[in-house]
Order: sequence, then structure tokens, then C-alpha cells
Amino acid sequence: MSSHEFEYRLQELLEEYQFGHQMLETELSILIKEFAKIKGYNPVEHIKSRIKTVESIKRKLERKNLPLNTDIMEKNIHDIIGFRIVCSFVSDVYDIVEMIQDCKEIRIIDKKDYIKNPKKSGYSSYHLIVLIPVYLTSGIKYMEAEIQIRTVTMDFWASLDHKIRYKFQGEIPDEVKEEMEKYSKEVQTIDEKMLSLLEIVNKYNQK
Ligand code: GTP
Ligand code: MG
Repeated sequence: MSSHEFEYRLQELLEEYQFGHQMLETELSILIKEFAKIKGYNPVEHIKSRIKTVESIKRKLERKNLPLNTDIMEKNIHDIIGFRIVCSFVSDVYDIVEMIQDCKEIRIIDKKDYIKNPKKSGYSSYHLIVLIPVYLTSGIKYMEAEIQIRTVTMDFWASLDHKIRYKFQGEIPDEVKEEMEKYSKEVQTIDEKMLSLLEIVNKYNQK
């Protein structure tokens, strides 16, 4: 596939990803509203989403040593559509995962629980790769998307980590890595304490 052909095909595909993004945005916002009604509080602090830019897609293909080819891209890049759901408690993260699992419109094709098994860096989050149907004149097409679900504290850690990585743009000094890993454990402790507190609060509410 020539570079020109790649760019042309990619523009067409990005329109389909745009539809997929809209579908998922609608679906998630309904799910969360229903969830808030059942729980009696809104578990979601905020949601962010984005569609990867042409430049970022090219960079990712290069990083993975893959050619600029849209078929290869569709098979290997799973986060062209990306959503991040940030919630209050660890229990909310798992409840949201379950809710998405029960939603017939969204099909989960991969799950990574970096909360139970944090990455070596200390990164912790729950990742889902999902398929969302888009109704085109040519028929139904299932678009892939990545949904990251995490608590506010995990989000705080990840955004700092991201900034640090950006600052070094290469190998991060061991000293910095070690500190970040230590903080990720501290953040985890805070999340555990918050969850215990929620249980205490709930006990009072039941009385
Ligand atoms: P990719 O091919 O790069 O997408 O890796 P993967 O398929 O193994 O995906 P993985 O689930 O490990 O991570 C995907 C996304 O999670 C990244 O694009 C980041 O947004 C986030 N992430 C993963 N590891 C880290 C980390 O150590 N620090 C931060 N800040 N974010 C991370
Ligand atoms: Mg990924």
C-alpha cells in the first residue's frame, strides 16, 4: 500500500471510527445514567474520549515495526477509539465493567485487569477492548474501541506518570521509576481505605 493510498483509505476509515465513537458515547452515557439511578449516586467523576490522529496512528505503527497499511492497522491497533471512565471507588470500576458486560450493544473481546495485576511501572486500571456496531449503508460494521476504567487516584498517578515519560522521552532513570512504583502502592492503599470507608458509610445509611 503506497503512502498516498494509506492516507486516503485512513481518512475514509476515520469517518467510520467517528460513527463508532458516537455510538459508544451514547451507549455509555445511557448506561451510566441508569447506573446512577440504581446506586443512588453518580459513580463517575468524569469521562474523556478521543479518536487517534493520523500522526499518532502512524507513530504507533512505526513503534510496532508495522507498515503503513490500513488492514494491518485495523488488526493491530485496538485503541483508535479510546474512552476513559474515571470513578470514585474501586468497587465502581468493577460495577461499571459488569454493566458493560451486560450491555447487548457492546461486545467485549478483551479484558485486562491491571488493578488486580498492576503493570511493572505501577500502572493500574481496568482495560476493555470492545466492538460497537455501526450501521452503514453497506451493512453493519463492528468498530473496535478501548475503554479504560480507573479510580480518581489511579488517574492521578497515571497522568503524572505520563508527564514524566514525556519529559524523558526515552529511558526513565531507575530512581524515578522506583519512586513512581512506590507511589502507585501508596495510591492503592488510599483506594483501599476509601473503599472501607464507603462500607462504613453504607452501614450507617442502612440503619
Ligand atoms: P499498546 O499496543 O501500546 O496499546 O499496548 P497494549 O496493547 O499492551 O495495551 P495496554 O493495555 O498495556 O496499554 C494501553 C494503554 O494503557 C496505553 O495507551 C496507556 O494509555 C495506558 N498505559 C499502559 N501502561 C501505562 C503506564 O505504565 N503508564 C501510563 N501512564 N499509562 C499506561
Ligand atoms: Mg492497547
